Amino acid sequence: MSRNWLENQTTIDKNTQDTIRMSGILPRHIAIIMDGNGRWAVEDGKNRTAGHEEGINSVRDIVKASSQLGIQFLTLYAFSIENWKRPRTEVNILMKLLEFYLKHEIEELHHNNVRLLAIGKLNSLPKSIQKLLLYSIDLTKDNTGLTLTLALSYSGRWDIVKAVQMVALDVRRGKLSPEDITEERFASYLVTHNIPDPDLLIRTSGEMRLSNFLLWETAYSEIFITDRYWPAYRREDLYIAVNNYMCRERRFGKTSAQILTEQPDTNSPKNYFQRVMDAFNPR
Ligand code: IPE
Ligand code: IPE
Ligand code: MG
Repeated sequence: MSRNWLENQTTIDKNTQDTIRMSGILPRHIAIIMDGNGRWAVEDGKNRTAGHEEGINSVRDIVKASSQLGIQFLTLYAFSIENWKRPRTEVNILMKLLEFYLKHEIEELHHNNVRLLAIGKLNSLPKSIQKLLLYSIDLTKDNTGLTLTLALSYSGRWDIVKAVQMVALDVRRGKLSPEDITEERFASYLVTHNIPDPDLLIRTSGEMRLSNFLLWETAYSEIFITDRYWPAYRREDLYIAVNNYMCRERRFGKTSAQILTEQPDTNSPKNYFQRVMDAFNPR
């Protein structure tokens, strides 16, 4: 079987993705809170580790499907700062699985033009993982396809507080004056400074909370929560979320009437499709 994801896709899946692309503007950035590994396993009479292991297969499928679909940014919440409080044995298993994923997937990710990034308090990760991350990020840094960001030992408040400290330092050094601290300037101090805000935030396992994920960046993200546990989550579930996102009206505080009269994005697939249809059916 080819390692190239575009050659390695069923016709049905290709057609499904074509239909999605034709029906509107894809989210540029999808962020996912991958939750429910433990419950998936326990409800199936297994131990929590089995859930984390199967969760890796979900990661593989969602990364591949996002890349094939043409999503530009995918951010996966894999481990929060608060997750360090879990039993030592579970933390160790999660770290081993992360190491396994990076070791075994990086060549295929690279081969498929994926750029890997990591955000979080990375220096609290085991040294072996830090080394693997550095290697993988460097290896894929010039890739132009999907940007896959792993949130590892990450928490939104940790990032915001760290950014405030750096802003304060720059003010003290005279490099920045308080009046110049705009939203854009502040965001440039966050670990997410080189990725756009998520358009679509998905959380699996039915929990209705952010759990300290991308607190600043999700100000205007569309939120989609599914009951599906992460280990059972596959590309068909992603398509449901993306289709749902594409039917929404993003108003950013404006009224619906304002949004409808604004200049349409003439390059969007939907408008392209509309132009083709109009050419065939002149009014
Ligand atoms: C998500 O699944 C994985 C991590 C948070 C690392 P959980 O391990 O939180 O599974 P549940 O939520 O307890 O079922
Ligand atoms: C959120 O899941 C963190 C990750 C998915 C990495 P948790 O399972 O840690 O969230 P809570 O504790 O239920 O809020
Ligand atoms: Mg959980």
